[in-house]
Amino acid sequence: MKFTYYGHSCFSIETGGKKLLFDPFIRGNELAIDIDINNVEADFILASHGHGDHVGDLVEIATRTGALVIGSFEVVNWAQNNGVKNAHPMNFGPASFDFGKLRFLPAWHSSGLPDGSYGGNPGGYLVQGQEGNFYYSGDTCLMMDMQLVPRFAKLDFAILPVGGNFTMDAEDAVIAADFIKCDKVIGIHFDTFGYIKINHEEAKEKFKAAGKELILPKIGETIIL
Ligand code: NI
Ligand code: MN
Repeated sequence: MKFTYYGHSCFSIETGGKKLLFDPFIRGNELAIDIDINNVEADFILASHGHGDHVGDLVEIATRTGALVIGSFEVVNWAQNNGVKNAHPMNFGPASFDFGKLRFLPAWHSSGLPDGSYGGNPGGYLVQGQEGNFYYSGDTCLMMDMQLVPRFAKLDFAILPVGGNFTMDAEDAVIAADFIKCDKVIGIHFDTFGYIKINHEEAKEKFKAAGKELILPKIGETIIL
């Protein structure tokens, strides 16, 4: 699987010939000024929740690419009200798509949309595809529900927030990695704002001490997993 990082919580994963773009937020991220959103491709756009730092560029990229927008019922409704035609609402549970099986799973967070409307419950995604399985927790604190993930699938890697303050920090994410039984973690949701600036080496050391790997991708970087 091919992972490409666009900064903050925005990344794409190519699996089974499909491009899945998560939480598009690029233009509002001053660290991501080198990313041109017109070059971001997607067959599917998956939103974890309604906060602006996760859906800021969703409508524009969905409109240009025609990608199928997946998210909570409320987030999808908001996208449709803003002109998105191709959309698939979910609530927590499993569904099947071209790229494989998708589970929308709970997250402990909040989910107001940029226009102030209610975004439904925030969540994360478990993807089970032909090339392998991965879990993206979305914005969340550490939570016991993560222990369900390994009952559903054996993970090849996971994408977890490590910035703290609004979500887990690296220390919490190590415990999350235990809960989901995954030793390879890509850290996201760090450094974008003052509240979530982290020490990269310290964060990686915490994972190493637990016998796990933390990858902190550079914006624009592509990693084959
Ligand atoms: Ni959020
Ligand atoms: Mn966020």
